[in-house]
Amino acid sequence: MTRPVWIRHASQLATLAGGSLSPVTGEGMNELSIIEDGSVWLENGRIERVGADSELEEVYRDRAGEAEIIDASGRLVTPGLIDPHTHLVHAGTRQNEFNMRLNGATYMEIMNNGGGIHATTAATRNASHEQLFDQSKKRLDLFLLHGVTTVEAKSGYGLTLEDEIKQLEVAKRLDAEHPVDLVSTFMGAHAVPREYKEHPDAFVDLVISEMIPEVARRKLAEFNDVFCERGVFTPEQSRRILEAGALHGLLPKIHADEIEPYEGAELAAAIGAVSADHLLRASDRGIQRMAEAGVIAVLLPGTAFFLMAESANGRKMIDAGVPVAISTDCNPGSSPTVSMPLIMNLGCLKMGMTPAEVLTAATINAAHAIRRAHEIGSIEAGKRADVTIFDVPDFMTLQYRYGVNHVHTVIKNGKVVVA
Ligand code: NIG
Ligand code: FE
Repeated sequence: MTRPVWIRHASQLATLAGGSLSPVTGEGMNELSIIEDGSVWLENGRIERVGADSELEEVYRDRAGEAEIIDASGRLVTPGLIDPHTHLVHAGTRQNEFNMRLNGATYMEIMNNGGGIHATTAATRNASHEQLFDQSKKRLDLFLLHGVTTVEAKSGYGLTLEDEIKQLEVAKRLDAEHPVDLVSTFMGAHAVPREYKEHPDAFVDLVISEMIPEVARRKLAEFNDVFCERGVFTPEQSRRILEAGALHGLLPKIHADEIEPYEGAELAAAIGAVSADHLLRASDRGIQRMAEAGVIAVLLPGTAFFLMAESANGRKMIDAGVPVAISTDCNPGSSPTVSMPLIMNLGCLKMGMTPAEVLTAATINAAHAIRRAHEIGSIEAGKRADVTIFDVPDFMTLQYRYGVNHVHTVIKNGKVVVA
């Protein structure tokens, strides 16, 4: 049995309470439900009570001796951060392509010449389960040190049934063995592998008739994602793949309008996707449709930054009523970062979001984007005891002093895992 944990005297306890039933939109994204001089009592892996120091003092005074007490004076306490879009499980690195891009090559040129996703696919196919596990675990350790307690992880660097399953099994094992929780997404439609270059529809058929049914049968993923982009998968192919997944219980997500406008946002709304991700080039009509359909925009400002492109217009999306979440997109080509704090900074600096909005986007709305908002994403009694403590006095300072890892303590399932 682990001891209860009592976090006391937080200068700001940003609970994010009240958004568990549906994604937070509009002005609601500025509502952090902050308690000053706040306390939280964690027990048996759950949040038992949240409130003012004086209130918890009253209730737990007699049990103080049992608890591990964390003095959070001068610090900000938030829900454990959630990253709702990563390509965590992959082998190798692509710093050579970074250098090529700095010398003028584009992301799509590199991919079309056999690099990009194809390079990481080759490395991932060649890696053993053990090698893939070790490399991915290192990244997951770093996520945790940056205050993240749950990550979504996509396959998509196998592109054969066997290699996609290898990636998903590594994710499953990481979920079991690592403090950070993983939520898996099947992304067999991440690229048309080179061996199918001349007949891409045959690859789409393979994804639909073999990969999706087998991944679903083995319960290796909850979501199904596709890279809908000119030169990768068309909106029609994307729709077929996402509808096939839905028939097998895999909820649709989509990489939409990243490099070129391609009506990905419109498609996400039409099929009722849980989220549409990237959206750098989403049309106004697509944004409107997403707002009407309640599709979450998962914005990835690190990717725009690293690809030296203009960021998605987070401000416009929030103002249009779209629920916004943010994420690292952690992957070896377009965003090799593990830092959600940096992503929040970029959300403010490059997408016009406020410090409160980026925190909502990295907690409760991120939880909605992976259908976990009943469990995580806010500090409320009954939820899982995932909490991050930052060594800054308030949520504005967290964004103001940008580019620094201010994480002081991380508690996962009621246990202190970073101190
Ligand atoms: O989300 N855009 C497609 N997929 C990833 C990049 C994958 C890669 O370059 O390896 C993304 O940016
Ligand atoms: Fe991605």
